[in-house]
Amino acid sequence: MKAIAVTPKQTNSVRLEEMDKPKTSDIKNGRGVLVEVLRVGACGTDREINNGEYGVAPEGYDFLVLGHENFGRVAEVAENVTEFAVGDFVVATVRRPGYSFYDDIGEQDFTTDDEYFERGISRLHGYMAEFYAESADFLIKIPPAIKEIAVLLEPLSIIEKGLKQASDIQERLKIWRPKTAAVLGTGSVGLLTSMALRLRGYAVHGFGKDARDGYLNADLLEEIGVSYDSTMETTVAASTEKYGEYDLIFECTGYSPIVFDAMQSLNQNGVLILASVTGGERKTDAIPSDKINQQFVLGNRVMFGTVNANREHFEIGVKDLALCEAMYAGWLGKMMTHKIEGLENFAQAFDVLNNAGKYRAIKAYFEVKKI
Ligand code: BGC
Repeated sequence: MKAIAVTPKQTNSVRLEEMDKPKTSDIKNGRGVLVEVLRVGACGTDREINNGEYGVAPEGYDFLVLGHENFGRVAEVAENVTEFAVGDFVVATVRRPGYSFYDDIGEQDFTTDDEYFERGISRLHGYMAEFYAESADFLIKIPPAIKEIAVLLEPLSIIEKGLKQASDIQERLKIWRPKTAAVLGTGSVGLLTSMALRLRGYAVHGFGKDARDGYLNADLLEEIGVSYDSTMETTVAASTEKYGEYDLIFECTGYSPIVFDAMQSLNQNGVLILASVTGGERKTDAIPSDKINQQFVLGNRVMFGTVNANREHFEIGVKDLALCEAMYAGWLGKMMTHKIEGLENFAQAFDVLNNAGKYRAIKAYFEVKKI
């Protein structure tokens, strides 16, 4: 079968590899499921891996099959799989257990191992292939009604984990009634975050770099009642004069200096969630550290980082995708701006990823096989 692979740490090595079709018997304990891949999303992490900045090949290979945002159909199940049947739609989680005790209890998204196992990213082949085999333990069933947009579930799961932790952490307060949120970043993750917060009743304010005029992402935000401001015209801290301080801020720009701006924009008892993986070397100075520190202390503010997601977060994501279709019919589909037909057109996908601004791309994805 065909798969899209890279040589990790080598710039622009993306290519097609011919691989053996996996089998349910590759998975132990009779729990194997063979999945026919229908769609795979392409994201900033795939771009970074192809830029040679991130990613590790599995042991015994000098290449890594890319792809972690996935959606497929069950083609075969082994004898001990009772929860899936041939024809079911599924999405697979990304991280697999390593060695820490969080991994032992199924919370590998909180692993304390330095080396982690993530399909399509680190030490495990991914989903940019015609088929994959996986244990039923790592698959999430997808209702047919959301099949057209279910490839958005994996990026949404990251947000769900962030929001779940925010509400867990805020239990320290006994009562927390958040009203306003700022979402920093208006790419696909920022849009999904804004949507998830709107579904929870927040007044949401989105911030991006682009000018408002003709910016599709801002049009989409406005369709679901989210304001848009360009950080070329305002800082997040200055925006609090207009909108008030934010009870929750979700950072997903990939531009780390904005974190310090966000730290100065939180309401008392507020919570700031950091979700950008910033692999670069950027440094920033002139931080008003006394002021920020004092605000955090005197206002009982919280900031935390979040990565990856486990089954629970994918399951919340399935419900949010369905609710979003019910509340804002067709909105998620408008995010899926660039469909690439067939794995062999990988060059086109990376061109879109590398030039998202020029193509006005929000989400690029492969249609590996028609649904
Ligand atoms: C993926 C996560 C992963 C993270 C760090 C993200 O792009 O969505 O599943 O944990 O990268 O590797």
